[in-house]
Amino acid sequence: MTTAAMTKKGGIAPKDGMPSMLAYLTRVLKMPTIGAFWEELAGQARDQNWSHEEYLAALLQRQLADRESKGTTMRIRTAHFPAVKTLEDFNLDHLPSLRRDVLAHLATGAFVAKAENVILLGPPGLGKTHLAIGLGVKAAHAGYSVLFDTASNWIARLGAAHHAGRLEAELKKIRRYKLIIVDEVGYIPFDQDAANLFFQLVASRYELGSIMVTSNLPFGRWGETFSDDVVAAAMIDRLVHHAEVLTLTGDSYRTRQRRELLAKENRASNG
Ligand SMILES: Nc1ncnc2c1ncn2[C@@H]1O[C@H](COP(=O)(O)OP(=O)(O)OP(=O)(O)O)[C@@H](O)[C@H]1O
Ligand SMILES: [Mg+2]
Repeated sequence: MTTAAMTKKGGIAPKDGMPSMLAYLTRVLKMPTIGAFWEELAGQARDQNWSHEEYLAALLQRQLADRESKGTTMRIRTAHFPAVKTLEDFNLDHLPSLRRDVLAHLATGAFVAKAENVILLGPPGLGKTHLAIGLGVKAAHAGYSVLFDTASNWIARLGAAHHAGRLEAELKKIRRYKLIIVDEVGYIPFDQDAANLFFQLVASRYELGSIMVTSNLPFGRWGETFSDDVVAAAMIDRLVHHAEVLTLTGDSYRTRQRRELLAKENRASNG
C-alpha cells in the first residue's frame, strides 16, 4: 500500500511508514486523540488479543470522549458564569422544601431540548445563583450552549443593539444559545424602555429556546421592577407557560455561614 494512493491531492502524504501515515491521516481527519493513542492502544490490543473491530471501536471511543469533554469545557468557558458552582456542592439539607426529584430532572438538561424555562424565586442568599450556575453547567455537559448574565447586563446589551438599530440581529444571535440565564431580576428597577427590551427577549425565545431567571421578587411584584404591570404580566405569561417554577424558602446561606463562623470563634475563645 502506498501513501500516495490514499490522497487525491497526492504528494502531501508521507511515505515513510505507518506512524507518519497515521499522523498525517489523523491530522487531516481532525482526530488528534487517535493520533496520540493508536500506538499505545495497539500494544494493549496485541497483549489482550482484541479483534480488529474492538481495536477500532476503542480508538474511536477515545476520540469521541475527548471531543465531548473538550466541547463541554468550551461551553462552560463561553457561558461566562460569574463563579464556578456545581450542583454537587449544593447542600440540599439547607433547603428541605426544594423538590429533589424536580432538581434531578432539571439536571438532565431535558428542559433545554424542549425549550422550557426555569424560574428560581426567593429572598437573598438562598442559592438561586448557585443553582442557576449548577444547572447551567449540567446543560453544558448535556451538550447545550449556555450564556449567563445579570438582568441589568442583558438589558444593557439589548439597549446597545437597539440604539445601533440591530436589535433583531442581536435577538437572533442570542437565540443561538439554547439556554440563557438571567440572574437577579428585581434588584434594580427597569424603566419602560428596558422593560420593553426584556419583554422582547422573552418573546423572541418563546417556545424556541430556554430561559432561566432568578428573582428575589414573587411574580406579583414584577410590575414594580418593570415599571409596567401590563408588560410584566405578558412577560410572566410567556415565561411560565412551559416552565418549572422553584420557590425557595428559608434562611440565607450567607447568614448561616456567618453565624456558624461566629459560633466557632466564640467556642474557640471560650474554650
Ligand atoms: N444550599 C447551599 N449549599 C451550598 N452553598 C450554598 C447554598 N445556598 C447558598 N450557597 C452559597 O451561599 C452564597 C449565596 O448563594 P447565592 O449567591 O446563590 O444566593 P442567591 O439566592 O443568588 O442570593 P441573591 O438573591 O442575594 O443573589 C453562595 O456562595 C452560594 O454558593
Ligand atoms: Mg444571586
